[in-house]
Amino acid sequence: MCGIVGYAGKGEAALKVFSGLEQLEYRGYDSAGIAVSDGHKINIVKKCGRVRLLKARLNQLTGGVGIGHTRWATHGKPSDVNAHPHASGAVVVVHNGILENYSELKNSLSAAGARFVSETDSEVIAASINAAYSRGNCNFCAEPNLCDPSAPHALLRALHTSAQTFKGSYALMVMCEGFEGFAVARFKSPVIVGAGDDGFYCASDEPALAGSCSSVYALQDGEYALITPSGIRLYDCDLSPVERKFSPNRARSAAFDLCGNDRYMIKEICESPAAVKNTVSAFASAEGDIDGIRRADRFIFLGCGTAYHAALMGKIYLERFARATTEAEYAGEFRYKDPVLTPRSAVIAVTQSGETADTVEAAKLAKTLGARVIAVTNSPRSEITRVADAVVPVEAGTEICVAATKSYSGQLVALYMLAKRLAGESFSEICALPDALGKVIKSADICALADMCARASGVYFLGRNADYALALEGSLKMREVTYIAGGGYPAGELKHGTLALIDENTVSVFIITDGELASKSATAAEQVLSRGGKVAIVTCCKGIAAAFAGRAETVEIPDLGKYLTPVLAATVLQKLAYRTAVILGRDPDKPRHLAKSVTVE
Ligand code: G6P
Repeated sequence: MCGIVGYAGKGEAALKVFSGLEQLEYRGYDSAGIAVSDGHKINIVKKCGRVRLLKARLNQLTGGVGIGHTRWATHGKPSDVNAHPHASGAVVVVHNGILENYSELKNSLSAAGARFVSETDSEVIAASINAAYSRGNCNFCAEPNLCDPSAPHALLRALHTSAQTFKGSYALMVMCEGFEGFAVARFKSPVIVGAGDDGFYCASDEPALAGSCSSVYALQDGEYALITPSGIRLYDCDLSPVERKFSPNRARSAAFDLCGNDRYMIKEICESPAAVKNTVSAFASAEGDIDGIRRADRFIFLGCGTAYHAALMGKIYLERFARATTEAEYAGEFRYKDPVLTPRSAVIAVTQSGETADTVEAAKLAKTLGARVIAVTNSPRSEITRVADAVVPVEAGTEICVAATKSYSGQLVALYMLAKRLAGESFSEICALPDALGKVIKSADICALADMCARASGVYFLGRNADYALALEGSLKMREVTYIAGGGYPAGELKHGTLALIDENTVSVFIITDGELASKSATAAEQVLSRGGKVAIVTCCKGIAAAFAGRAETVEIPDLGKYLTPVLAATVLQKLAYRTAVILGRDPDKPRHLAKSVTVE
């Protein structure tokens, strides 16, 4: 949710920052901007729209120190003026996060003479730091007036002083005229620093530095950094210098290579078998005391978006395999409902990025209430891993398309293995999954169905139990990349309301991977057909496919049993959403209004 990048070194900062922003664009693409110091003055280019629009103006930026931003709008519509960087006096800022008390701070800064041109909360941060910087005021100086604002640390001290007044979340990079470097602060929004061959970098996450930094350090809440062409200096929350261990950057620049594919979405769907295989291999290296939660008397699976749909499947797995009391909730709902948890409760937080604000805060809340927390994540150094007692790795690799695909497949198998382990059962059957998945991805013919969906006024997804969890995910995928209205429903609920939506312009996709419930869902499909609605069926049940031949679009998949077949069906639904988006001319990698890492509420 907003991406920020900074560079200080021997290279041209504009080019370095631009390429980092391109790799961070999945965090937001409403506008982009770059500021570079030419040694005297800081020059800024910014524009509403995608990062690539800056390319033609990079020649206006010369110098070795710069910062940049790609925006997912929170305060103020996407526009040139609301684009970051924001300047106030000598100070220039890029910000990822939300300044919750911006209105109050804006009023007091305005009263002191500050002027604002944008509608953003971030411009208030720039004005606040500028005010502290101009005062030469800092926490270290007994005599504020004696503090030299041109000394390198004055900017950091001004940032530190201002940050004490900020409420909300921030990853900040701050430059000021006359100082060849930039200061960094972090609270609840991620930011990493790294050393490259040609200079020193800072960014919202590891993929932005893939190819430029082989080792990185993720700043902790309340820590600061000062980055100049001579190095990175790290500070604790009192601005005392600290040493920290850097770790290898796991992100690979190969993740950005489309490898002949038109879009990241289809590339990443095709990488699902590898994601599953690697997640299975990595399960043995899960960190922390997983078995400790066996003693729990209640398990709550949490997540947002696609990760929530994986959490629903995790609940089904654990309920069935371990006969445990389980629940699944949206993390954003859970954290505000005053949940009842005890030290015998276990929370399983599912998150691809490990940075989703609602999931991280829900997990923190669970900890404070005494529950044990297990994280299931694709990001081993993310915030959620610092909160959790144990981490079950998903090894899907860097996922760039905003819509989650291979990470969902990885989450499903990680949750399957976790549930089996907690139930004391082996899971060798999972070894058959990657190959079967590869075959389904190659052979599933969804073209006719995608044509049907592209012409529909609404596309609904229906199923029972695990197939209902899949229906929710199939519907989310379709909605987010095609913008076609629809929803996911339990097949049994159809007649309690949703049936009223059905007409000849709608498509109802039934997912039937559980032979025991097949006839029940088939009945619901008949009810749609008899009311003139179009029907599609994704199934592993041969009898069902035959029964609907000629009356519905059917996509047949192999039967790997009722708990693993859903993983196969999921990729069919992903391909269907992708193909429909392409027919409609949408950009499935960057759907309008969305972003991948939702680090704000
Ligand atoms: C956003 C993304 C989704 C993702 C969700 C949760 O909405 O667009 O693809 O499922 O966030 O993200 P997480 O990183 O916590 O899995």
